[in-house]
Amino acid sequence: MALLHPRMRNKYAVFFVFIVALVIIEKENNIISRVSDKLTPKQNLQTPPQPNVSAMGLLKHNSSYASLSELEPTFVHLKRRLENYTKQVARHRDGRKHILLLATTRTGSSFVGEFFNQQDRNMFYLYEPLWHVERKLNLAAGGTNALAMARAYQDVLQQLFLCNFTLLESFIEPPPVAHVTAALFRRESSASLCTDHVCSPVVKDVFERYHCKERSCGPLNFTRASEFCLRKAHRAIKTVRVRQLESLRPLVEDPRLDVRFIQLVRDPRAVLASRMVAFSYKYTSWKQWEVTGEVPVDDDEVKRLKGNCDSIRLSAEVGLRRPAWLQRRYMLVRYEDIARYPMQKAAEMYRFSGIPFTPQVKEWIRKNTQASKEADGVYSTQKNSSKQVEKWRSSMPFNLARMVQKVCGPTMKLFGYRFVNDEDMLTNKSISLLEEKVFHFP
Ligand SMILES: *[C@@H]1O[C@H](CO)[C@@H](O)[C@H](O)[C@H]1NC(C)=O
Ligand SMILES: *[C@@H]1O[C@H](CO)[C@@H](O)[C@H](O)[C@H]1NC(C)=O
Ligand SMILES: *[C@@H]1O[C@H](CO)[C@@H](O)[C@H](O)[C@H]1NC(C)=O
Ligand SMILES: *[C@@H]1O[C@H](CO)[C@@H](O)[C@H](O)[C@H]1NC(C)=O
Ligand SMILES: *[C@@H]1O[C@H](CO)[C@@H](O)[C@H](O)[C@H]1NC(C)=O
Ligand SMILES: *[C@@H]1O[C@H](CO)[C@@H](O)[C@H](O)[C@H]1NC(C)=O
Repeated sequence: MALLHPRMRNKYAVFFVFIVALVIIEKENNIISRVSDKLTPKQNLQTPPQPNVSAMGLLKHNSSYASLSELEPTFVHLKRRLENYTKQVARHRDGRKHILLLATTRTGSSFVGEFFNQQDRNMFYLYEPLWHVERKLNLAAGGTNALAMARAYQDVLQQLFLCNFTLLESFIEPPPVAHVTAALFRRESSASLCTDHVCSPVVKDVFERYHCKERSCGPLNFTRASEFCLRKAHRAIKTVRVRQLESLRPLVEDPRLDVRFIQLVRDPRAVLASRMVAFSYKYTSWKQWEVTGEVPVDDDEVKRLKGNCDSIRLSAEVGLRRPAWLQRRYMLVRYEDIARYPMQKAAEMYRFSGIPFTPQVKEWIRKNTQASKEADGVYSTQKNSSKQVEKWRSSMPFNLARMVQKVCGPTMKLFGYRFVNDEDMLTNKSISLLEEKVFHFP
């Protein structure tokens, strides 16, 4: 290159940088997906993937291009990427996974969360920790905007995946004393928070006791919870509060984390029917419309339903588009499919997560879905919960179903939920409202 005219030299150098960049990006994607999906954690330790030696070597000798000042930013950027990538390879080597189960209320997320909670031995599972964040920010004077809320969710989730509870503690009311609290929301839903490893001694005062599923447990000691969390191989969090998948991109870019998102969706008609029962105090206008048969399109409630449907769809569209930052990190699951094929879907979710599907979890699923063993030893796919999942069809009046179809149409189409044209089609359960659809690409 020394023989060339300086301008030509610059041109070649730019071209060269471009090629190096392509090589790095390609290798990054290949190696990371190979490491994370093909190898078990143990194998990762034995056969660490080899970084691209030539690209790294060339970048190290950056001094020869120091004079080409216009190239420096490019090099700095490439160097950072290479550093990030090296860190990523390191984190994939320890096999630690961070699963985020994203859902909305009444989509079966507590049930699906159990798939991970029941892992117990290798898993640190948290149930709706963002409940505290939402409540505190909503109570804050003047309320808070969606952006600030999303930012707080992102920060708290990131810290929790690192077993750091400090930030979450700042949202808990009343504030924990010396990192100890008896006020954690639905603590009993996390097996990890009900073991002796995290409980303070039960004090005499009965109000200090906390009832975990099988026994009482002293207040939660976050210092001990953090130590316990750090000892677990994997971490999973379930939340119904995150609105936009895109807002969690910093978690993916954090080289300390290996995040997998599982978005759980359900037919919006079924969700509305279920919410009208579960949160009847909030759904008074819907109940009224149920009787009058008329739903005002411009009502705030209807707009809220539309907003929910749209944000679920937007997140799913980001995930299903499979942008580079989400490569192999996003999975969409319909609750209706889990109800029909619980064992198969759980297996898929575990395969996607890169965590062994343990007999303990299988046993829990078998018990809780009443799946019967067939003669050939394969778990039956026909089970009870698929009936439960369709119950709404006999309770929801056609006019409400039609309203949901109107405002949530694009969301329903994306997920493969069939529209009903009349009352008969709604209530006739031999007509399936579910299109067979595959969202997960191996
Ligand atoms: C690249 O060059 C700059 C400036 O010449 C220097 O500060 C830096 O340490 C070099 N980096 C490497 C990896 O050699
Ligand atoms: C490297 O990772 C950090 C987060 O740890 C991120 O902010 C930064 O944008 C990444 N750099 C590149 C070039 O990807
Ligand atoms: C935990 O997070 C807080 C900020 O929320 C930080 O100040 C603290 O250093 C972190 N602790 C550890 C051990 O990283
Ligand atoms: C919480 O656990 C830490 C670490 O084991 C311990 O030092 C501390 O005394 C405990 N706090 C209470 C109030 O039990
Ligand atoms: C299905 O489950 C429901 C509630 O879990 C129960 O009441 C019903 O008896 C079950 N039906 C069958 C056929 O197992
Ligand atoms: C339900 O739908 C099936 C299939 O379209 C039809 O054969 C059946 O007659 C319908 N049942 C009722 C009660 O309308």
